[in-house]
Parts: sequence; structure tokens; C-alpha cells
Amino acid sequence: MSKLPNVGTTIFTTMSKLANDTGAINLSQGFPNFPVDSKLVEILRQKANENVHQYMPMTGFPELMIKIRGLVESSYGRKVNTSKELLVAAGATQAIFTTILALVDKGEEVIVLDPSYDCYEPAIILAGGKSTRISLNEEFLPDWDLINSTVTNKTRMLIINSPHNPSGRVWKNEDIKQLELLMERYPQLLLLSDEVYEYISFEQKHISIHSIPSLRERSIIVSSFGKTFHITGWKMGCLVAPENLMIEINKVHQFNVFSVNSVAQATLSTYLEHVNVQELGSFYQTKRDLFRKLMSKSKFQLLPCEGTYFQTVDYSAISKMNDVEFCKQLTTDHGVAAIPVSVFNDSGKDQNIIRFCFAKDDETIIKATDLLCKI
Ligand SMILES: Cc1ncc(COP(=O)(O)O)c(C=O)c1O
Repeated sequence: MSKLPNVGTTIFTTMSKLANDTGAINLSQGFPNFPVDSKLVEILRQKANENVHQYMPMTGFPELMIKIRGLVESSYGRKVNTSKELLVAAGATQAIFTTILALVDKGEEVIVLDPSYDCYEPAIILAGGKSTRISLNEEFLPDWDLINSTVTNKTRMLIINSPHNPSGRVWKNEDIKQLELLMERYPQLLLLSDEVYEYISFEQKHISIHSIPSLRERSIIVSSFGKTFHITGWKMGCLVAPENLMIEINKVHQFNVFSVNSVAQATLSTYLEHVNVQELGSFYQTKRDLFRKLMSKSKFQLLPCEGTYFQTVDYSAISKMNDVEFCKQLTTDHGVAAIPVSVFNDSGKDQNIIRFCFAKDDETIIKATDLLCKI
């Protein structure tokens, strides 16, 4: 018997394979196609010659943890206790999985807001928990009436993600206020805040849970170096949580990973002295603006993009096909791969919206938009 009977090949694998097989431009999966910072490569080369090849301490390389503390403090004004509140993880996915396994007990409810990233629910199921998936509103922002009527005094955890994959929306001040009221009403409720795109927001700035004292005391906040430094293949990230939760998270981490890749940790520790993460937003804003400008001549309707490196579009002026079929046709007949947004919904709700990833070099963006404008 399968423990995850509903899990099959993900749409990301399917679309990337179809793009490869047909030679289409792959704007489906969320990964950059441009070279990484040469400084990072230079540091990696240096570190490979140093004595950094054995197990690191379980919770992380102390020097890297100090750098992360500095980053969180300069970004959000929060002083993290590195020995009690910080864990270096093998990517955000592992941080999320370990958190859920450690903190969600059999039968406990976890609320997930759809469309949602695909790694939350399998972790909840494997923990023996019950995932309750409810929809964001039509504009992909939280529907507070629905959230307030779904949370009960038995709900263990709420998972949020802003800047949001797949929609590219960013939560507003009002959403954070509503979240504070909710958390105040339900003292048993924990918040898992997936902030992997924290440094990729544009006009509407990201509000981190790190910067909200009343929330961070009951929150697990997840970051991804893969997203922040264009190194998704390194699978490096971290999480911050209050000590009482971290004790339990570390118990799982200890046997799930024990300690994270030593060379990567040593490299990132030195790299953090050389990089300014605050420049990431404008770096991607230039790409977003180019993508949107070139797409404005197309029949696709561009939806708001406030953060992440994803642009969603409504294609109902082009086709009435469902979004999965439309994405397949787009790849095979028009040479550009995208991701259908319905696959992020438990209900499969299809709004004729698809997601393009614009974390690509200008040449790829120009070629892809050229093809899309011909439709
Ligand atoms: C919303 C969200 N959370 C988590 C992750 C996983 O990040 P990582 O590659 O660091 O595991 C992704 C990756 O696409 C994501 O989009």
C-alpha cells in the first residue's frame, strides 16, 4: 500500500521533459538559466582546497550561522539566537518537511492556502496530519472570511507563502494585521511561513514574519539560498524558529539529514560577505519589466506580478482548452513550456491561467515572448 497514493510525476517534471523532447523554450520550472556569480564560483574553488570536507555541526557551520544572523538583522531588524533559533537546512523543501514532521501529530489539522506549492501536503500526510486546503481569493490574496471560518481551536498549523508561487502576489499590511488577529484568537496555532522569495519583490515590498514580534514567537520561517543566490541545484536553505519549537525540529533534522553539505556551507559563509541581497529585487524587476513589455503585444492578459520570478497570464482570449492541455499544446505547437496553475489547487480549479518563469537571460526572454506574441 502506498503512503502517498495521490502522488505521481509532478507537472514540473512532465513539462520540463516535454520541453526537452520538443526543443521548446522552458519557462515552466522555476530555475535561472544564466551563469551564477563568478565570485561565488571563485570562493567555491578556494574552499575546495581548505579543510571543509568533513561533517559540520548538526545545526550548521557556526560561521555561516553568524552571517545568517547578520542578514536577518540587517533585513528585518530581528536578532536571532544562532545556537537556539537557527537551523541550516538542505533547501527549503527539507526545512518544511522536517518542520511538519516534528510539529504536526497524528490527526492534527494543517491549513494550506491554494494554489499552493506542492511539497506541503505530502509532508502533512506522512506526519499523519490532516491537510485542509482552502482557496486564496480570485486575486490570489488571502480570503480572511474563509480562513477565519476554517481555523478552529484544534488547528495546529497554518502554512503561508508570500511572495507567492505561483501567482507572484505579495501580502499587504492588512493581511498581516488579519493574521495577527487570527493568531491571537488561537493560541495553539503555529505559523509556517515559506519565504523563499523574500528578496524578490518589486513595488509592493515583502513583509517578513521576522519583522512582526507577535507572530515570530510562534512561527517557523523558511528561507532558500537556492532562490536568493541563483543556485537552486545546491539545495541550501535555513529556518528560524523559537527555541521550544527548534528543540523538536532538531530531533527530526538529526536523523533526516544530520548536517548539511560542508563545502556549500563554508562557501556561502564567505560569499555572504561579498553579496548584497537587497539588489535581487531590482535585478528581477528588470527581467519582469522586459517580459511584461514584450508580452504586452500578445493576446495573453498579464496578471499582477509583485514578487517571485513568475508571471501569471490569463489565456482565455486565445483558447477555451483546460490549462493542462493548453500548456502541452503551447509546448508542442508554439515552442514555449509553461506551468498550468490548476495543478496547485487541490480541487483542480481551472481559471485558464498559466505561469511563466522569467528567471532567464534576456535572449531567452526575447525569443520566448516573440513566439508567444505570434499566437
Ligand atoms: C514556494 C516554494 N517553497 C519552497 C521551495 C523549495 O525551495 P528549495 O529549492 O530551497 O527546496 C520552492 C521552490 O520552487 C518554492 O517555490
